[in-house]
Amino acid sequence: MVFECYLIPKMTPKFKPELVRRPRRLRRSVALRRLISETVIRTDDLIAPLFVRDGTGQPEDVESMPGVVRHTIDTLVETCRALAGLGIPAVALFPCLAAQLKDAEGSRSLDEEGLILRAVRAVRKACPDLLVITDIALDPYTTHGHDGLLTADGRDVDNDRTVEVLARMAVLHASAGVSLVAPSDMMDGRVGAIRSALDESGQTETGILAYSAKYASAYYGPFRDAVGSARVEGAPYLDKGTYQLNPSNRREARMEIELDVREGADILMIKPAGPYLDIIREVRDAIDLPVAAYQVSGEYAQIHAAARLGWLDYKRCRDESLLAIKRAGADMILTYFAQEVAESSGAP
Ligand code: PBG
Repeated sequence: MVFECYLIPKMTPKFKPELVRRPRRLRRSVALRRLISETVIRTDDLIAPLFVRDGTGQPEDVESMPGVVRHTIDTLVETCRALAGLGIPAVALFPCLAAQLKDAEGSRSLDEEGLILRAVRAVRKACPDLLVITDIALDPYTTHGHDGLLTADGRDVDNDRTVEVLARMAVLHASAGVSLVAPSDMMDGRVGAIRSALDESGQTETGILAYSAKYASAYYGPFRDAVGSARVEGAPYLDKGTYQLNPSNRREARMEIELDVREGADILMIKPAGPYLDIIREVRDAIDLPVAAYQVSGEYAQIHAAARLGWLDYKRCRDESLLAIKRAGADMILTYFAQEVAESSGAP
């Protein structure tokens, strides 16, 4: 499409075009470019995803995510203090359970003294102003790694039985002090069920950050290594295609978004972020609720991997990847780069 205002008046092949419009004029210096910059990444926009495990000692490195670790509750608290000090408003916590604590029913998801709730309480106590977000899904707790309970034949996830557990889980997390629960399971009707359960238990102020358009993406690989939900020995690749969205679909994402709005979501999330910028833009234009995007583990890993090979400039790619997500319309970004980006942008 050509916008009329940019056409050069009376341009004919005979004459040298009169360049009335020279867009390069405003790109001539750093100061000019700063002045006309349309998008900025602020520390206020960042949410840091963090992994926590039981036990003591040093954090364990996650091999496929350089710089990301599985914290103990102690080091998690220290890191949260540092993040709060940098001005990062929120953290999203993910538990990594020891294999012997997992079962087919994911029963530890409802354990009041379980890892995630102990972690939430410790962080809330140490950093009362930092928002704590927790994932509502069963994958860290199940031996099969699916986000829910399986049907009797074991071939699919049982939607309604799963939703009941998720709603109970959300109530437990809310009582432990999380500000936002984040259902990442993609079951039908879970946002509505969680909203009613929270309201019935008097937790009307706990919000829902809904993973509304979560795609069945190959970019989650390193995350599954981090929480150990990758696959059971000998089992086929963990296919979540019966509940997560097909990467080819856009209208279906739109429908998921509309359902979550109707069911009471407070913030809508798109995940992954970089490969789904069109969906972020679509949601931004269609809906007035805040929009979040999750720059997932694989997006993080690929920038690190290429930079290690000397094929990409690490910092520039990191910053450009975040800028693109913001420019597409995300108000906030969950990103494993959060801490270093906040550090490099100076004090809040
Ligand atoms: C599962 C969950 C996943 C991520 C967040 N929550 C992975 C999955 O659906 O298997 C992925 C995050 C990332 O890749 O960084 N409930």
